[in-house]
Amino acid sequence: MNQNELKKAAAMAALDFIQDDAIVGVGTGSTVAYFIEGLGNIKHKVQGAVSSSEDSTNKLKALGIEVFELNNVDSLDIYVDGADEITAHKHMIKGGGAALTREKIVAAVAKTFVCVVDQSKQVDVLGQFPLPVEVIPMARSYVARELVKLGGDPVWRQGVVTDNGNVILDVHNLTILNPVELEGQINQIAGVVTNGLFARRGADIVLVAGAGGVKQL
Ligand code: A5P
Repeated sequence: MNQNELKKAAAMAALDFIQDDAIVGVGTGSTVAYFIEGLGNIKHKVQGAVSSSEDSTNKLKALGIEVFELNNVDSLDIYVDGADEITAHKHMIKGGGAALTREKIVAAVAKTFVCVVDQSKQVDVLGQFPLPVEVIPMARSYVARELVKLGGDPVWRQGVVTDNGNVILDVHNLTILNPVELEGQINQIAGVVTNGLFARRGADIVLVAGAGGVKQL
């Protein structure tokens, strides 16, 4: 199977975790795009979705799945999303699709975070994938200097504006041995909206697709 087939296999396996009448938290990215397709096939079973991006909202609505505002939802049983890197501790780097802030908000609300990945996303140590940081535009240069002090090489993702009107700095060359600590440190920098480390709130269930099928961690 190629990488897209593996992404699809992991995404389809997440459908087994969707309960009747659920409101489903939906992430963003190419793996989640397969999950949304699958959700379309069982849309009569669920109430609808809460979305983490304009892109996913458009995909959900195109399939006739109702999209609820997070503020109008009392609780969320499940959140399904991909990752750019994930460790055995279920800590992740996310935000390759620039949707990290809304992803982190929906993940925070959800009782269970189901992460769907192909096996190429599994790592021992986070940081080979550049860490995305969402930044208020006027703070871009200041935040970049602070990130250098933390040992990274930030690169402005030029031309990208997030759904929240902000910019992204991708931080290269980090070897993230303590993701919980670094997540907090970066979020303390004035002008940072959030960063793509999902360690304080990691995944609960990981569905990894590989040559031998989909494994649950
Ligand atoms: C979107 O902002 C990201 O957090 C995605 O979840 C992550 O980049 C994984 O994307 P793919 O499923 O496209 O690999």
